[in-house]
Amino acid sequence: MSKTVSIRGAVTANNSAGEIAQAVTKLVDRIYFKNGITDSEVVNIMLSVSGDLTSFSPARALREAGHNVPLMSCVEPNVDGSLANCIRVMVTAQSEHPISHVYLGGARALRTDITANYAIALDGPSGAGKSTVAKIVAKKLGITYLDTGALYRALGLKCLNEGVSPSDSATVKNCLENVSVDIVYTDGIQRVMLDGEDVSGKIRTPEVSMAASAVSAIPYVREKLLGIQRDIAKSNSVILDGRDIGTVVLPSAEFKFFLTASAEIRAKRRFDELIEKGNKVVYEDIYNDVITRDHNDSTRAVAPLKCAYDAEEIVSDNMTAEEVADKIISDVAEVVGL
Ligand code: DC
Repeated sequence: MSKTVSIRGAVTANNSAGEIAQAVTKLVDRIYFKNGITDSEVVNIMLSVSGDLTSFSPARALREAGHNVPLMSCVEPNVDGSLANCIRVMVTAQSEHPISHVYLGGARALRTDITANYAIALDGPSGAGKSTVAKIVAKKLGITYLDTGALYRALGLKCLNEGVSPSDSATVKNCLENVSVDIVYTDGIQRVMLDGEDVSGKIRTPEVSMAASAVSAIPYVREKLLGIQRDIAKSNSVILDGRDIGTVVLPSAEFKFFLTASAEIRAKRRFDELIEKGNKVVYEDIYNDVITRDHNDSTRAVAPLKCAYDAEEIVSDNMTAEEVADKIISDVAEVVGL
């Protein structure tokens, strides 16, 4: 159900017509994208500029960029301590989504309550290259990486260890009632602890993959792992990779990407990875596992794998992990102003 909302945003620009036009257009485009709206849902856009931005009217810039909505801009009174070279906006719109305010670059200083830490949600099917990409992004941006699949894998392993069928929700619940699963970082590398044991190596087998996919469909399991994922995102800038990060775990993540690739390419990548680690595997088995896991992950009733309305889809068939990471980093840099 849609309701009328007011979305705030701000950006800084130098006092030239071109820069003002570019900055305000970028700001409004991002507000539209993050809030899942277009001109059709907008009631009006009000803009104000600090007194030093005299070269151009931001309302005129939006009109010239093709926005066909009621627009108004005005100059703010000069108040001691106010941010220089600043354009502020309020978009009033009909929206069915939670509000996402947008503060870009230098203007992020205005709202450190919402801009101090940022989160990047990286979702997508198995084998799309999420973890490789997330590791590169985390390293280059100097932020924390959490591979959430490792948590489901650890619980899948626990079921296998205990001889419990990972798809039998009642027995799985019993088996996992008192389990302890934890994430620790040693030299920036994530380790997964299961009942105090480091299982980071043991969770990477095809058997554990299938068990993880099965236990991840159980609501009790998803609920159990929610807190640990959110806690890590609370006090750090983070990148989390998974299936439901942008939709369930961190729905208000500032950056969301949905990374995908064809099933053949994903199976080939997983196959190469396992062979490199010395596993004896057959490509057809890996391909069939990919298809089965895609089906399980996207058709389960709770938190199914799907692209969030405010996520950018990246198809990586013809891209290297570095290229995908560079794309994500440049998107983040545009907003954060790195
Ligand atoms: O990303 P991965 O292959 O390590 O994930 C293992 C399984 O865990 C996967 O089949 C689906 C599940 N999973 C999930 O349901 N939600 C997440 N956020 C991460 C993984």
